[in-house]
Amino acid sequence: MRFKDKVAIITGSARGIGKETARRLAAEGASVVICDINFDMARETAKEIESSFKTKVSSVQTDVKKTGDIHELMESTMRDFGHIDILVNNAGIMYPTKIEDVSEEEWNEVLGVNLGGVFFCSQAVSPFMKERRQGKIINIASVAGKIGGVAAGAHYSVSKAGVICLTKMFAKVLAPFCITVNAIAPGPVDTAMAQLFSPQQREDLIKMCPLGRLADTGDIAEAALFLLSDAAKHITGEILDVNGGMFMD
Ligand SMILES: NC(=O)c1ccc[n+]([C@@H]2O[C@H](COP(=O)([O-])OP(=O)(O)OC[C@H]3O[C@@H](n4cnc5c(N)ncnc54)[C@H](O)[C@@H]3O)[C@@H](O)[C@H]2O)c1
Repeated sequence: MRFKDKVAIITGSARGIGKETARRLAAEGASVVICDINFDMARETAKEIESSFKTKVSSVQTDVKKTGDIHELMESTMRDFGHIDILVNNAGIMYPTKIEDVSEEEWNEVLGVNLGGVFFCSQAVSPFMKERRQGKIINIASVAGKIGGVAAGAHYSVSKAGVICLTKMFAKVLAPFCITVNAIAPGPVDTAMAQLFSPQQREDLIKMCPLGRLADTGDIAEAALFLLSDAAKHITGEILDVNGGMFMD
């Protein structure tokens, strides 16, 4: 039970990587907050996790583009659980749009969710973690933020490069408070997001992976649990690749 008595907020956890990370944290004793823009799905996920494990699970409707929603998320977590130990900045959106077709609206939306969401959630959780001089933050970046992206869109790739930068910056400013901040840079993962690629694009992505397959959500969740565990207590500012060898740096 590595996470007994820990309270974890996972953004965008109604499905996909966020849901699997929340499920595995709950299985190891954490109380989890399922927050998502899709409240019906978040509520269902919370019910499913709570009935599988003997732990407390709440669901909150949060649009990580909105700072008002983020502050309500932190306040309601404090009301329900009394403290916050873990934040997983996972909520993200991707449009595989060609450069010439990206509109101003789509650009702002992707940057607002993927980069603004990470920044403002980290900003909002910091005082609660600093006060107790403990906490762990994980950001879900992407290999696209390292290699410049190909299929995933310029806005998406730039947002994830920004997440890598924010990870290092928050790691530096929060280290004096014993708070670690790390990121995971997944390659393609078999979730609803990857369904946005055409069958040909998925095949091409698999060919780019020496390990010859898309990741599953458990591959990413296990890396997150390692970075959130005591085994990683001296690791901060790290960008952990989980990409089947697609990109090695
Ligand atoms: N699937 C991949 O191939 C892949 C690869 C690299 C990185 N990632 C990253 O992993 C993270 C999770 O992706 P996934 O594959 O599980 O995707 P997904 O689409 O299955 O899940 C994303 C979740 O985020 C929620 N969400 C979307 N906008 C939101 C908002 N404004 N506020 C709150 N919640 C919001 C969605 O409702 C959904 O539940 C994302 O940050 C994504 O960029 C995914």
